[in-house]
Amino acid sequence: MFEYAAPIIREAEVFVITAGAGMGVDSGLPDFRGDKGFWNAYPAYSRLGLSFSDCANPQHFADDPSFGWGFYGHRTNLYRKTVPHAGFHIIKKWIERQGADYFVVTSNVDGQFQKAGYADDRILEVHGSINRLQCQKPCSSSIWQNDEVVLVDENTMRARHPLPRCQDCGEVSRPNILMFGDWSWLPDRIHIQEHAFDKFLKANANRHIAVIEMGAGSAIPTIRATSERIGWNFENATVIRINPREPEIKAPHISMPCGALEGLLKIDELL
Ligand SMILES: NC(=O)c1ccc[n+]([C@@H]2O[C@H](COP(=O)([O-])OP(=O)(O)OC[C@H]3O[C@@H](n4cnc5c(N)ncnc54)[C@H](O)[C@@H]3O)[C@@H](O)[C@H]2O)c1
Ligand SMILES: [Zn+2]
Repeated sequence: MFEYAAPIIREAEVFVITAGAGMGVDSGLPDFRGDKGFWNAYPAYSRLGLSFSDCANPQHFADDPSFGWGFYGHRTNLYRKTVPHAGFHIIKKWIERQGADYFVVTSNVDGQFQKAGYADDRILEVHGSINRLQCQKPCSSSIWQNDEVVLVDENTMRARHPLPRCQDCGEVSRPNILMFGDWSWLPDRIHIQEHAFDKFLKANANRHIAVIEMGAGSAIPTIRATSERIGWNFENATVIRINPREPEIKAPHISMPCGALEGLLKIDELL
């Protein structure tokens, strides 16, 4: 499989990098696969019997903001201290060496592609970003940088006061992340990113496109569907799906049942 992927990379004029939570695993981040995966990462929620979707709920910011900010403050701190693994840099090296154009589409909210040096205007974060905040009401359409320092007690997963607040109305703020049952999420930033991605695809429709998909699960299939849409609709596009547990994709697309870093290193050796 690595030998099938190498020529696709070598001939690529354009890279579309699609990534789910599994992309962060080799940087030491948890994916939230099933309740077990989530509870391993967050024993406090296991004790409370709360699932990922129970915690990723905007209602907490209104009802019990210290609890809401417990989960997202902890993740803010975790993603800030995480160093993107070498795989991020391997793909960037290919892009630069080939003078290729690229776009990243990710369901991750962790800002790791920006941290690894990918340009902010070449990234679509379909579920938003932990590095941006908005008002929980929201009182306006403002979205601003998350420069907050949030202290979280890991035993209770509650954040200490003072909590981040809206600059306009003083209400508790929240990350500009699409949560479950979320009617107050402001999608404006994502709409701008989506528009840029559509324009990018139109401009590159006839070129050789390598779609490198890593760590995208099938439970919330947005990222897998994006890869497949490009793979089936663009004549010169090939999807390389790297995923240790659910790598299936129909030929001529390429399935690599391994971790993201391992797969990228192996392809790199063959280039
Ligand atoms: N870092 C983050 O921002 C983060 C982390 C966890 C969850 N989330 C959110 O939770 C939702 C979960 O969906 P999802 O599909 O992204 O995650 P998921 O947890 O459902 O699936 C993770 C996928 O990664 C694969 N995987 C595990 N280890 C891997 C590795 N080393 N290399 C490559 N792949 C590996 C698994 O087989 C699985 O298919 C998403 O909406 C996402 O926004 C975000
Ligand atoms: Zn407000």
